[in-house]
Amino acid sequence: MRKSFIAGNWKMNTDVHSSVKLAEGVVSGCKDVAGSKVDVAVCPPFVYLQQVSKALQSSHIALGSQDIYFEQKGAFTGEISAAMLKDVGCAYALCGHSERRHVIGETDELINKKVHAAILGGLLPILCVGELLDERKANKTDEVVTRQMKKGLAGLIAEKMSAVTIAYEPVWAIGTGLTATPQQAQEVHALIRKLVAQMYDRKIADAIRIQYGGSVKPDNAGELMSQEDVDGLLVGGASLKTEDFVAIVKASV
Ligand code: 13P
Repeated sequence: MRKSFIAGNWKMNTDVHSSVKLAEGVVSGCKDVAGSKVDVAVCPPFVYLQQVSKALQSSHIALGSQDIYFEQKGAFTGEISAAMLKDVGCAYALCGHSERRHVIGETDELINKKVHAAILGGLLPILCVGELLDERKANKTDEVVTRQMKKGLAGLIAEKMSAVTIAYEPVWAIGTGLTATPQQAQEVHALIRKLVAQMYDRKIADAIRIQYGGSVKPDNAGELMSQEDVDGLLVGGASLKTEDFVAIVKASV
């Protein structure tokens, strides 16, 4: 049985005050279920990680970063290493979020280095994959997701795979109010699990958690989570409202 895993990606939102308020709200709203029934994480902007970390102390809500750099230290102006993220209390690191792929221009090769760096630094990477609308329309979803999976996980040995979560986020569903239907999500999640079985083995494929992301809301979370291969959710906009995020977490247990 895979334990559900719900993560909130706050993106470039909140400020010092509201990030702490939001974290405190998530802690109190999820206290009956987080840890025992479902894994929950929040991913604030880098600059608020430390305050949010304090607000999460002695709770079962984990902290994640929205990105990571692959080098360990040195002259990399503006970048943040795995050790720095560990230092402020991160457990997870998003790698290759679609906004970093398509707005910032990250490549599969760079994202692969980030996945390796996260694991080497003792963090749990959440590798994000997903197709653009044009790619879906051209029936290229499987091809795109297969490439992102193979290149994103290249060189990662089987023993390290228990650290990895995959997030399937169809780009056309992110922030648009368009959600993949539960069937569309299930189809790609099943493909991802099949790929992991081919690249590794059945046991690893059965154990890996695959989150869905893209306009997840309290009213669609339960149906998405009812799909066989949907093990969790990566929530953007709705994770900025305490009651919505808590409702999504509760709909997932
Ligand atoms: P929305 O939930 O706002 O569509 O964002 C999804 C996402 O990108 C989470 O990482």
